[in-house]
Amino acid sequence: MIDLVLFAILPYVALAIAIVGLLWRYRTNQFSYSSVSSQFLENRQLFWGSVPWHYGIILILLGHLTGILFPASVMAFNGVPLRLYILEGTGLALGLLVLVGLVLLLLRRGTNPRVRAVTSSMDLVLLLLLLLSIVTGVGTAIFYRWGSGWYVQTATPYLRSLVTFSLKVDYLASLPLLVKVHALNAFVILAVFPFTRLVHMLSVPLAYLWRPYQVVIWRRPRVQQ
Ligand code: HEM
Repeated sequence: MIDLVLFAILPYVALAIAIVGLLWRYRTNQFSYSSVSSQFLENRQLFWGSVPWHYGIILILLGHLTGILFPASVMAFNGVPLRLYILEGTGLALGLLVLVGLVLLLLRRGTNPRVRAVTSSMDLVLLLLLLLSIVTGVGTAIFYRWGSGWYVQTATPYLRSLVTFSLKVDYLASLPLLVKVHALNAFVILAVFPFTRLVHMLSVPLAYLWRPYQVVIWRRPRVQQ
């Protein structure tokens, strides 16, 4: 019964909260769709936390997505042991990289008085939830090896079953507790997503990549030498 609540009902509730919350935030405060960068208050610590965090987490999320979209290709790739070792080693290295980045970001928010002054309780909740996600993810990589192999055999069919409304909860319910906490925490993050600065993921200014150059012309009169 508890598995049904956690792995069948909670994901849909989290998604519903995320969609309604995002729409509500868009309608009531469209300009708050931002990372609310604190770079101008403190730059050095931010650099050492934010750069490893962002490069690492984006690659890790893409890795999770690849396993969901192309399970057969991942299995074929892992068919050669050396490739499996490289994939697993890269995953673990990225996990450790984001862990270091996130701990630095947390320390920055806790220790720098200027940054602390603009830190909301939701910022801390988000960073701690992300920390739980990374710790359980890295823990899974260390204690339950060859995750790229069993992920596509368990989590992928489970997540796909959520999308097609043909629930296969047992795939997840039979995994170790650490993995279950990792998955559940992801649903919690989904639910709080609209109420945190994570919404900046939806406002990446991609149009900058193809928009025409902006020509800036100074109209200030020249100073006579
Ligand atoms: C291409 C996508 C992304 C862009 C362009 C981006 C950009 C930014 C920017 C500009 C900031 C403000 C701090 C800074 O200047 O470094 C920030 C902060 C943050 N980002 Fe991202 N981000 C992206 C993806 C993500 C993802 C996928 C996550 C997590 C799942 C994430 C989590 C965070 C968090 C937690 C902060 C707050 C850090 C702090 O100030 O304590 N970002 N991001």
